[in-house]
Amino acid sequence: MHPESSAIRIQTDRTAEKEHSTPLFLTSSFVYDSAEDMGAAFSDDSLDVNIYSRFSNPTTDEFIAKIASLEGAEDGVATATGMAAVFSTFMTFLSQGDHILSASAVFGSTHTIITKFLPKWGVGYSYFDMNAPDSIEALIQPNTKMLYVETPSNPGLDIIDIEYLAALCKPRNILLVVDNCFATPAVQQPIAWGADLVIHSATKFIDGQGRVLGGVVVGRKELIYPMYLFIRNTGPSMSPFNAWILSKSIETLFIRMDRHASSAMALAKALEGHPKLNKVKYPFLLSHPQYAIAKKQMKNGGGILTFEIIGGIENGKKFLNALKMLSLTNNLGDSRSIAAHPASTTHSKLSENERNAVGITPGLVRISVGLEHPDDIIEDILQALAAFV
Ligand SMILES: Cc1ncc(COP(=O)(O)O)c(C=O)c1O
Repeated sequence: MHPESSAIRIQTDRTAEKEHSTPLFLTSSFVYDSAEDMGAAFSDDSLDVNIYSRFSNPTTDEFIAKIASLEGAEDGVATATGMAAVFSTFMTFLSQGDHILSASAVFGSTHTIITKFLPKWGVGYSYFDMNAPDSIEALIQPNTKMLYVETPSNPGLDIIDIEYLAALCKPRNILLVVDNCFATPAVQQPIAWGADLVIHSATKFIDGQGRVLGGVVVGRKELIYPMYLFIRNTGPSMSPFNAWILSKSIETLFIRMDRHASSAMALAKALEGHPKLNKVKYPFLLSHPQYAIAKKQMKNGGGILTFEIIGGIENGKKFLNALKMLSLTNNLGDSRSIAAHPASTTHSKLSENERNAVGITPGLVRISVGLEHPDDIIEDILQALAAFV
């Protein structure tokens, strides 16, 4: 079956009610036919039975099965948020005395975990510059256990060659973890290029309509099992209700990502060379510094683009205030187009130097291109740029 069809057709076994759309098992726990069965459910880990929705739930399992299939992974775990997925991955595989090597251009909360929390528990870190992949090998230490990257990164849209990273990691037994949130499996499959684990904030394009939070991690069974035990015992599990919403959303993921990307490309072309902008960045624009890598590992450029408004923070604010249709909010991957200003919001906890190091200048605006008619999105942005001197 093609992945577009699997995204629609992977579904929980039909119940006696003969429902067509997938059922929602909104239940905290599950019952047993006998005391013996109940005892066995707890004592025999090899039994594939549901006990409690913190451990497993058929609706959540359906969501995991879909993402695992689309990513080309054997198995997965689902979490309440994308950050719970990131944190659970770190907690499962990193121990006191270990070292994580991460791209410096990572989502703000991931940066906070790496720099503020992991060191408290004796896990050291080094950052590398995604624009200088040649510098990575020298940063690997004997205790490096994980290499972590977002590609494209949020919000800088930096891109790195996953196959190149896998070649560094494999011989050294370093886990290669890729946050695939910006691309989604409809656009990029990091496991095919050698990643060990793929993480998503399902809150973004996987939901696609800005309704629920969720996270998911997929990979080989032997890596997922310890993550399952961590999540089952510590509790950052996904709600079955959210899993139902997200699983239904996946049915339209491919068609949505195609439209997000074609509109984003049209917007990028309309804005390139605009006199009020310093630069426009989009993975499939020839001017993107890693255009060749984007073309190699992504099916399209995704739904996010950024630009730098000349005049920095003041003109950035004027631009946002002049928008008529686009929403001012920090989410992304919604059917509604969104404008955000990372320097004053998601990345405000970083110092100015740290922000500059990952390309977040004062005038940087991130557009999450939605599913409205592309002409309306372009028109709103052009009129907002024309609205100030
Ligand atoms: C790349 C990336 N990873 C992780 C997260 C965290 O996801 P969540 O907000 O679902 O916890 C985000 C959120 O914006 C993100 O953009």
